[in-house]
Formats: sequence, C-alpha cells, structure tokens
Amino acid sequence: MTTPTYVAGTAPRSLPIVGHVWQLMRRPLEFLSSLSEHGDLVEIRIGTTSAYVPCHPDVLREVLVNDRVYDKGGVFYERARDIAGNGLVTCPFGDHRRQRRLMQSAFQRSQLARYAPAMQAEIEGTTSRWRAGAVIDAFPQLFGMALRTVARTLYSVPVEDELVHRVEHAFEEVLSLLFRQMFLLPSVRRLPTRGNRRYRENLAFLHDAVQNLITEYRGEGIDHHDLLSALMSSREEDGGGLSDQEIHDQVITIMAAGTETVAATLTWVFHLLSQHPDVERRLYEEIDTVLGGRAPEWEDVARLELTDRIITETLRLYPPGWLFTRRIAADTELAGLRLKAGSTVVFSPSAVQRHRGAFPREDDFDPDRWLPEQTSNPARRAFVAFGTGARKCIGDIYARTECTLALATILSRWRVEVEPGADVRPVMLSTVYHPRKLELRLTPRATS
Ligand code: HEM
Repeated sequence: MTTPTYVAGTAPRSLPIVGHVWQLMRRPLEFLSSLSEHGDLVEIRIGTTSAYVPCHPDVLREVLVNDRVYDKGGVFYERARDIAGNGLVTCPFGDHRRQRRLMQSAFQRSQLARYAPAMQAEIEGTTSRWRAGAVIDAFPQLFGMALRTVARTLYSVPVEDELVHRVEHAFEEVLSLLFRQMFLLPSVRRLPTRGNRRYRENLAFLHDAVQNLITEYRGEGIDHHDLLSALMSSREEDGGGLSDQEIHDQVITIMAAGTETVAATLTWVFHLLSQHPDVERRLYEEIDTVLGGRAPEWEDVARLELTDRIITETLRLYPPGWLFTRRIAADTELAGLRLKAGSTVVFSPSAVQRHRGAFPREDDFDPDRWLPEQTSNPARRAFVAFGTGARKCIGDIYARTECTLALATILSRWRVEVEPGADVRPVMLSTVYHPRKLELRLTPRATS
C-alpha cells in the first residue's frame, strides 16, 4: 500500500500584526472552509504566530487519534478552561485517561436508559407549554429545553425555578461572550469593559451556584440514580474517585458541552426538514408507525432509524462544534510539514465534512447516505462531528437519544413549519453556531 501524499499550503491575505484573526472573527466558517483550496494542511496566522488547519479528513484524523502529541490547548481550550476548569473536555493528555475511566460509567447504555425518562419528562414539560398556532423562536426555546434536560439528568433533586432561570441566564451570557474572549489579547481581557465584566460576573455566579448545588447534594448522601450520583460513586480499581474540584469541573463541563450543541442540532434539523418535504414526510410516517401516538421511550430510540440518519446528516452539514484547537506537545511531522512543539492546530469539523472525496454531492442533505449498506469507509472516517479517538465525545449517545426523543415528541404532536423571513446565516456562539433567525409555527397534528 502506498502512503498518500498530502499537500501543505499557506492561507493568503494575512494582515500585518493580526494575521488572519480578522477573517476568523468575521466569517470563521467561510474562512476555514475556503482553506482546502490551498492544501490538505494549511498554515494560517493568529496574530504574529502560525497555526495549522487540517483540511483533509485523514490529516485531521491523524491529529485526533494522536492525542499525546496533539494535546488539548490553543486559543479555544485556554478560554474553555475559564468555564470548565480541568474537566474532561479541557484537561491535558496527562490527566485524561484517568478522568475518562471515571466518567465512562456515567455514560454507559444502562445509565442512559435511566436518564431517558428524565429527558422525556423535561421535553414534555417544554412542549406542553406550546400552544396551537403559536410561533416559537427555535434556538432559544430548544436551548432552554436542552439546558433543563441536562440539568435534570445530572441533578434530579428539584431546584427552585428562580435559581434555574438565573443559572440559565448566566450560562447563556458566558457562552455567548466566550468566542470574542478567545481572540482578545490578555491585556484587553483584563480591561473593565462592559463585556469583560459581564463575562467575569456571570462566570463567578455560575461557579458559586454549581458549587452550592453539589455541596447540598453531597450532604444528603442519597443515591438519586442520576448523572451526579454516577460521577460521585465512580471508583478506579485502587478505590480512587473524582475529587470535589473534579466533580465541580465535570458538572460545568457536561452542562456546557451538552446544551448548545443539542439545541443547535435540533434547530438545524427543523431548517433542513423545511427545505426537504420528502424527507419530512417520511419522518412523520416513521414516528407515527413506531409510536402510534404515544410518547417515545428509551426502547423506541433504536427503532427510529430514519430519525437517527437525519440527525447524523444534519451533524455532517452543520456540526454544532465548529472550532477546536490543539497545542503540539513535541516536534512532529504532519502532511509532510515539520511542526514545532508549542504550535497550534485549529480545526473545524464543518470544513472536512463536506470533503468531496468522502461525500459525493457533498452539499446535498441526504440522510440515506447513512443507510448501513450505503455508508462508505471514507464517509465514516470523515464524520467527526463528535470528534474521534480517545477524546471523542463521551456524550454522543446521550445527545442522539435526547435529539431523537425531542424530535419524536415534537413531531408526533405538532406540524412544524418554518415562518417566512428565516435567516439561516450562522450566528457563532462559544463553539457552536445556529441560524440567525428561525421561527417555527406549530399546528396540532390531526392524529394527536
Ligand atoms: C450534538 C451534540 C454534541 C456534539 C456535536 C458534540 C461534539 C463534541 C466534540 C466534537 C468533542 C471533541 C472535542 C475535541 O476533540 O476537541 C466532544 C467532546 C466531549 N463532549 Fe460532546 N458533543 C455533543 C453533546 C454532548 C453531550 C450531550 C455531552 C454530555 C452530556 C457531551 C460531553 C462531552 C465531553 C465530556 C467531551 C470530552 C470527551 C473527552 O475528551 O474525553 N457532549 N463533543
């Protein structure tokens, strides 16, 4: 077998001092996707330093599976640590395997089966507040639903509504300010500007609120069969578990990693369905056939096959996590280029998931490309919406379960139509993007 030859290139139009930061901040997706014209691995400038962007799926894969050399770090992960501390998403290679083993038990299938009723209850709670003929703003509604769902599976003890709203608000604020914070110089981040103050105040509130909730929960000493109980009781063979600080970091990590991502996925699904009435019709049929009008349960998730393919294809075209970074831990070679320890790798699943070599008709929404008999190896390898290798998303099945339960619940009750005037240009949040404006009109289904 011959080793493939990759081409390394350099991005044009770097400006003095800022490099490509301007393009990254103004039109990040377009900029990152355009880079494949210049090579399989492309050098860009962030300020005065170089960063490298893998544009070929196999080059990106090499980075992701080699997490000892391509360690967590770089602009995205440095700021993400403000929120998630040294939790599973942000921790370096040296801490990762132990944390992953301790977290894994909380995400096993048997545990997910336990969380599914809590997810379903929260989805029902949100959708039961919707009224016939109402027009809802998709992303904020689904964001609220996803945050409350993750909070309920984590922490099944009832919390006062007032506190839930304040945490929800603080999370929204921090996540929406994070993206700008990533590219500001440290001296600018320290200035007492309104944005910096809002960022710091909401962050401090969030850390305090989460710590109080954990302390109260621990005080009760009861196993609530929720995610937090699973984290607290998880033990290594030598009996060691997660420390208090680690539990704190994991709780915030899970809330941050599992909220915007799910809400953005569902929002894009509704946009894509509105553009593809044939797929939408088949989806309604599947939901009606599998559920026959009742609410979905954990066992139904595996039966809702088209629903799952629609979620996968949406994640391919609009992967919510669109920007990640790595810091190179030791001198290495990638795509024929010598890379120095300390350099940054920037990658975007959205830039490689439309790679023509892996996905024929790469811009088409075609959920059936994920039918088992039709999925090619290159497509499987190029699908990195959940990452790959040892740092692959631990919440992938959790997210798929929640998205499936949400779609099945919503569409079994409502005919959902996108209102005229939608604007699907992406709005960039911390690491997630969603349509600028997508309103949904809800009409009760005749069958419900
Ligand atoms: C559609 C929804 C989701 C998407 C697209 C997504 C995407 C990702 C991606 C791309 C990574 C790898 C990042 C990297 O390599 O730098 C990741 C890691 C992670 N995700 Fe998710 N995620 C989703 C939902 C969730 C949910 C629901 C949870 C938790 C309940 C979660 C928890 C995590 C954690 C803890 C990690 C770090 C894993 C590790 O490093 O071992 N994610 N996610």
